[in-house]
Amino acid sequence: MRVGILGDIHGNIEALKVAYEVALEEKVDKIYHLGDLGGYAPFVNEVVEFLMENKIEGVQGNYDESVAYNRKHCGCKYDNPIQAEMAHLSFEWTEKHTTESSKQYMKSLPFSIEFQTEGKKVKLYHATPIKNNLYWYEDRPEKFFLLMADKAGADIMIYGHTHIPYFKEINGKYFINAGSVGKPKDGDTRTCTCIVEINSSGAKVRFIRKEYDIDKVVNAILESSLPHYFAEKLSLGR
Ligand SMILES: [Fe+2]
Repeated sequence: MRVGILGDIHGNIEALKVAYEVALEEKVDKIYHLGDLGGYAPFVNEVVEFLMENKIEGVQGNYDESVAYNRKHCGCKYDNPIQAEMAHLSFEWTEKHTTESSKQYMKSLPFSIEFQTEGKKVKLYHATPIKNNLYWYEDRPEKFFLLMADKAGADIMIYGHTHIPYFKEINGKYFINAGSVGKPKDGDTRTCTCIVEINSSGAKVRFIRKEYDIDKVVNAILESSLPHYFAEKLSLGR
């Protein structure tokens, strides 16, 4: 089975359209998204409409949960006070501009999705099997990976949240961070489509990076009342 994964889209409809096309070109059997549909760029409702129109199933991110339930905070982590302030402005903007029907869609998303194929149990999460806002970076100790595999009770785990893709295999368990479609943080500004091929011996993973009309999104951020800070971050892939 071949699966296309669309991680952390964050209001970037232009990146989403290209990432979706990549998945179709790869002739995947199924496409999933990993949540965090709004924030940082202005096209949250367009993203939700696109996912609904194309019947792309997915899980609920911390951002979706916070926006849909009108929380005061997105549940994100910050490295410094400026980042905290900017992130909060983006969250307030998104909460205010997300339509009621988009919020209903976000509320309807499950915490996880699981399926069985080729004798493997596959589970999808936004961040981790235990919390949707815990950052599961590649350099976590092996113990943490195995604990998560235990919590998930799965052979193959697919998740996002950190916006930095990786693939790891430990003791026959497969750990796949799908990266981010709309707000990469690994210094590569291109969109990211994660292709996972599952067979009886395990999983093979590719991260396909592709250019999209980033200027259109940068300009849309600058023309909106979102902080300009996010236009700069998008142009840097940070
Ligand atoms: Fe995110």
